[in-house]
Amino acid sequence: MKVIKLLTLIFLVISSVAFAHSGVKDQNVKERMMVMKAMADNTKVIGQMLKRKTQFDANEAKSALERLSSLSLKTPKVFTVNATDPKSEAKPAIWDEFDEFTKLSLELAETSIVLANSIENIEDLRPALKRISSGCKSCHSKYRE
Ligand code: HEC
Repeated sequence: MKVIKLLTLIFLVISSVAFAHSGVKDQNVKERMMVMKAMADNTKVIGQMLKRKTQFDANEAKSALERLSSLSLKTPKVFTVNATDPKSEAKPAIWDEFDEFTKLSLELAETSIVLANSIENIEDLRPALKRISSGCKSCHSKYRE
């Protein structure tokens, strides 16, 4: 039951990826969407291993978490410009509360790197994915439509 809930959560986080940024004209918006897509792709690497759709590989999981960390560090940079696009789901509050937005990014960067060092066997993936997903959610629930 718990696993199903977690997988649903992950699916919700990554599901909008495929089509969401097609047709975006603004370069800044495009760039930040690409960073987010990469976040989703790396989260998926871990999700697929957890579901045993791909072979468990501790180094692969660690690399995905390390990439999540550097993408999180990059997040405030790609959101610096208050750019808009009809397809954007970014809430204007980001630029009123940029300190808070930055803090959430840095927290996820920190969590990801701690988790990268925690992966030894397949049992470590589930708690890692759970913490990553809640990091995504803590920002999306505030700053994404
Ligand atoms: C600090 C805030 C923040 C964090 C942390 C964050 N996101 Fe996002 N994410 C956003 C915002 C804001 C948008 C909307 C951007 C837009 O549409 O202009 C977004 C959009 C997305 C999108 C849609 C991209 C598109 O092409 O439209 C995906 C997928 C996504 N995020 C995945 C993730 C995943 C996976 C994580 C965690 C590993 C994550 N995000 C962490 C703020 C964040």
